[in-house]
Amino acid sequence: MSGRDSMQQPLVKPIDVAALRRDFPVLDLKVKDKPLIFLDNAASSQMPKQVIERWVKYRSAQHANIHRAVHYLSETATAEYEAARRKVQAFLNAREERECIFTSGTTDGINLVAHGYGRKFFAAGDEIILTTLEHHSNIVPWQMVAEEKGAKIRVVPVNDRGELLVDEYRKLFSRNTRFVAMTHVSNALGTINPVKEMVAIAHEHGVPVLVDGAQAAPHLKVDVQDLDCDFYAFSGHKVCGPTGIGVLYGKAALLEKMQPFKGGGDMILSVTFDKTTYAQIPAKFEAGTPPIGEAITLGAALDYLSGIGLDRIAAHETDLLDYATDRFNRLPGVRLIGTAEKKAAVLSFAVEGVHPHDVGSLLNDDGVAIRTGHHCAQPVMQRFKVPATCRASFAFYNTTDEVDALVASIGRVQKLFA
Ligand code: ALA
Repeated sequence: MSGRDSMQQPLVKPIDVAALRRDFPVLDLKVKDKPLIFLDNAASSQMPKQVIERWVKYRSAQHANIHRAVHYLSETATAEYEAARRKVQAFLNAREERECIFTSGTTDGINLVAHGYGRKFFAAGDEIILTTLEHHSNIVPWQMVAEEKGAKIRVVPVNDRGELLVDEYRKLFSRNTRFVAMTHVSNALGTINPVKEMVAIAHEHGVPVLVDGAQAAPHLKVDVQDLDCDFYAFSGHKVCGPTGIGVLYGKAALLEKMQPFKGGGDMILSVTFDKTTYAQIPAKFEAGTPPIGEAITLGAALDYLSGIGLDRIAAHETDLLDYATDRFNRLPGVRLIGTAEKKAAVLSFAVEGVHPHDVGSLLNDDGVAIRTGHHCAQPVMQRFKVPATCRASFAFYNTTDEVDALVASIGRVQKLFA
């Protein structure tokens, strides 16, 4: 969170960044003979050796299908897979492990709810509330279901700092509102949304809420019971884990009412050509052979983050964000887009007179990795009247020296275009 909130932050023991960096082999990489400065963590964060080793261990000594056989390898893989589910439960503070479904990522989790809940419970004239800050993966699945059902999408606006207008959100509720889907942290701007308050407002209207936690889970302590959200989705590859794995948390009572999104093996109790009955949750939503090694490796990644402490990670990233924001504010010709009071460590910016893609490639020549483009959040770009931004997104292993290198590299770009 932004240091502007630092008065409210608990005091935590600072992390030892130099020691933690030694866990990440990739941080020794040279790009174009320069040290890699990896500032694209909002896309995918890097993996520490503890996570890589867990991946190798599964691949070399535990690889087998799960829930299907009584031999040693299958039983080991099953036990490790279910242990990983309990790690997810602890990470999110879910009431029960069966409320944690393994998915292929945040997008898959949101699609599961849009199709599993929306197709069963939405009808013509129903309304779904989204926000301007959503990633396309929390827009398109709802549009698909809305189109099929004749439902309408309503959108919470933002102010010029990129903060959701909660009073406008209140006004969007009507007797037709059936669902709210909102991001916890904006991937394009870094805004941390007041999820707990917005969930409470939705619940006053009896409306369930899905939270896209892809950008929050790596940076903040998430407590789904405290937020009281009905669904929470996040991805493995943004929490120092692998791609191809993610988690959907859902309240058991809702998951039980939903229809499965995918059919296949492992999600059934019995099958005849006349009728299929479904397994209990979570199996009901995990059709087919799941990404077993990825789930187990995700468990190791969550152990790694929890071992450091999400509160300590948040404190370090807050310091980095404040340092970087201050340096950027003093850079002539550079404009920050997204200046919310509460922010995760994301800096979206424009360099006057230079296309973001040119900024990105020239920074790459200095070994600096950022993302440029619309960040799969075109409505955010439309709101701020830009086609694209440059985005530097930080992780706990980034340093103020790396911020200085980013700023120096931007200075070099500006000179080239002067
Ligand atoms: N959603 C990811 C990002 O924001 C890919 O970069």
